[in-house]
Amino acid sequence: MLQARALEYSYRQAGQVQPVLKGVSLQLQAGEKVALVGSSGSGKSTLLNLLGGLERPAAGDIHLDGHLFSALEEPGLTVFRRAHIGFIYQQFNLIPTLSVAENICLPLELLGVPQAVQQQQLAEWLDAVQLAGRGPDFPDQLSGGEQQRVAIARALIHAPRLVLADEPTGNLDLQTGERVLTLLFDLAQARAQTLLVVTHSQVVAERAGRQLCLQDGVLLASGSGVW
Ligand SMILES: Nc1ncnc2c1ncn2[C@@H]1O[C@H](COP(=O)(O)OP(=O)(O)OP(=O)(O)O)[C@@H](O)[C@H]1O
Ligand SMILES: [Mg+2]
Repeated sequence: MLQARALEYSYRQAGQVQPVLKGVSLQLQAGEKVALVGSSGSGKSTLLNLLGGLERPAAGDIHLDGHLFSALEEPGLTVFRRAHIGFIYQQFNLIPTLSVAENICLPLELLGVPQAVQQQQLAEWLDAVQLAGRGPDFPDQLSGGEQQRVAIARALIHAPRLVLADEPTGNLDLQTGERVLTLLFDLAQARAQTLLVVTHSQVVAERAGRQLCLQDGVLLASGSGVW
C-alpha cells in the first residue's frame, strides 16, 4: 500500500549540504506492522516526515495506494494527508487549549464530518483508549500515558490507511510505554491499518512483523519479529 523509491533528503546548514537520506526505498503491505530502528541521527524522523507528507523528498517518489503522493501540491497534499495518514509523536503534540474530546475529534472536524457522527465516534474512541469520562478534561490534567492514548485516538479516529508513529513511547516509563504500545498495535490490527513505528526499544521492535534499520541514511532490513 506504501511504496517509497530512492528517497533522498538533505538539510542545509551554514551553507553546507548535509545528506540525511541517501536513496531509501521501502514497501509496506496493507495491514503490515513494521518497526523502524536506527541510532540517533540516522534519519528516522526525517523518513517518517517524508512518508507522512510533512516534508518533500529532494529526489525519489512515494506512492500511497496507487496515488503518487509525493507529487501532490498544496492544498491537495494537506487534504490527502488528513484523509489517509495518522501521525503519533513522541511529545504527544496535543493542542493544550482544546479539551480531550476536541483533540480527538480534530481530524473529523477538519474533514467536515457532521457533529452527530463526531460525537458517536468520540464515545467509541474514548472507550477504546480507556478514557471514558475524560472528554471534558484538558491535556495538562492528564498523565503522559493518558495524553499518548488521546494522541492515538486522534491519529486513528478518521480511519487512516497508514499510521506513522515516531517513538510513541519515548516519553513514557517502561510499563506505561508497553501498555500504550500494545493498545496501538491492537487498535491498528483490529482495523487492518498499516503501521510504521520508530522506536529505540528492542521490545517494541520485536512486536512488529518486520524490522527496518536506518544506518547513516541507508535502509537495511533485519529479521522478522514475533507480532
Ligand atoms: N531542521 C534540521 N536542520 C538541520 N539538520 C537537521 C534538522 N533536522 C534533523 N537534522 C539532521 O538530520 C539528521 C537526521 O535527523 P533525524 O531527526 O531524522 O534523526 P533520527 O534518526 O530521528 O534521530 P533520533 O533517534 O535522535 O530522533 C541528524 O544528523 C540531524 O542533525
Ligand atoms: Mg527522531
